[in-house]
Amino acid sequence: MLREGPMIDAHRVTLAAADDFDGWRVAARGLAEAGIPASAVIWQVDGGETDLFANSETGPRPVGPGFAVPRSFVDMAEKAICHSDPQRFGLLYAMLIKLRANRRAMEDSADPLLHRLEHMAKEVRRDLHKMHAFVRFREVEDQGGPRFVAWFEPDHHIVRAAAGFFVRRFTAMRWSILTPELSIHWDGEVLTESLGATRQDAPDGDPVEETWKTYYASIFNPARVKVEAMTKEMPKKYWKNMPETALIGELIAGAQAREAAMIESSAVLPKAGANLPASWQALKAEAAHCTRCGLYKCATQTVFGEGPLDAKIIFVGEQPGDQEDLAGRPFVGPAGQLFNAALEQAGIERAQTYITNAVKHFKFEPRGKRRIHQKPDTGEIDACRWWQEQERRLIKPALTVALGATAARSLTGKTVTISKVRGNPLTLADGNECWVTVHPSFLLRLPDEEVRRAERELFVEDLRRIRRRVSHLAP
Ligand code: URA
Repeated sequence: MLREGPMIDAHRVTLAAADDFDGWRVAARGLAEAGIPASAVIWQVDGGETDLFANSETGPRPVGPGFAVPRSFVDMAEKAICHSDPQRFGLLYAMLIKLRANRRAMEDSADPLLHRLEHMAKEVRRDLHKMHAFVRFREVEDQGGPRFVAWFEPDHHIVRAAAGFFVRRFTAMRWSILTPELSIHWDGEVLTESLGATRQDAPDGDPVEETWKTYYASIFNPARVKVEAMTKEMPKKYWKNMPETALIGELIAGAQAREAAMIESSAVLPKAGANLPASWQALKAEAAHCTRCGLYKCATQTVFGEGPLDAKIIFVGEQPGDQEDLAGRPFVGPAGQLFNAALEQAGIERAQTYITNAVKHFKFEPRGKRRIHQKPDTGEIDACRWWQEQERRLIKPALTVALGATAARSLTGKTVTISKVRGNPLTLADGNECWVTVHPSFLLRLPDEEVRRAERELFVEDLRRIRRRVSHLAP
């Protein structure tokens, strides 16, 4: 699916397709390097939409070598480019120019332009999620044997962006997904495209029911049903494609029972208003679909924080490890065991604390059958920070503890040297007190037994100091 590069005539850029991120990137970089303002560029799609954000053709400009932008911008732009709003190209270009002048422009959460682009990216992610969840295949026979064909109507230009998901999930099947704008076909080895189709081009009849019932039950996210309301999660236009809508009543009933049991079994009920469990559930449900960085692609699941919602201490770790990724719970593997023992020694009851991670997906490199832990980079930490901030905003702990440098970066927004801040509390942007100590995995990695024992003792001592401090702050 090679595409030609963008055609650039004066300051009119003609992109090869409505989702042509690479073309946009090449053109935008060149224009920005040449100092062309956003208001002087017209963006259009070959044979399609035009962004009349600007209207002049003020002469040719050179295409320069480009400059570095934060990963968070690229992640947002890759999604926002698929939005159906014709102004997206120009708005992204305006943001690029801002970033050129101020590399931290992505951190300005009050910027309306950034807000609008993030909103677009979010709508595209939601559309992708719907496509992943609501495409239903019918079986037909063609010359090559059975083929599974589905009809889908996305709201945005997401078909190419969604293709990888279907290739990975249904590699062994031959399938086609027909949409009004573009159709994609997989023959078991190669993905091809053809023009858009109409609903009549897709076969009628029963979708491949049993396969899909199992699949749907496995991806069903019950918390969203209550929080977002059924029609938002699953717009009615998709229902007719889906035999398993018959399952929904059952699934919701099961989910509500599980949720009620969870709230009942929670040792201490939240102090900050009756909606706290619902808000936390909604946040957790939203995080389950997080695609803010690329780590969701390989991880099994989002590992969200856990613990009583009126906890006085929040511990923030680095990221889930292999066992946490499979179990869906933080600190249950070897580092978790060491952490549990140290907490106990320091007189802190784990069940009364809230434990989460700076990064919510497991980052690893496959090596044979093993998955080797990889440190998250600053782009991934910064992209994931939002979840930790929301968890802390809801729980309002008396103090927060950063376990290691990744957590400290997530909490402070800066790279922190642990030895410099250990033992002296920091004040976070929201006024919360934050103590930084080492990560339990650091202790596990120390090769010398004597050093390990001494470092472990210092860790326990940090935890004791934290316990004393909490009983002073929130007796
Ligand atoms: N290390 C972490 O930082 N978090 C976990 O959940 C497990 C290991």
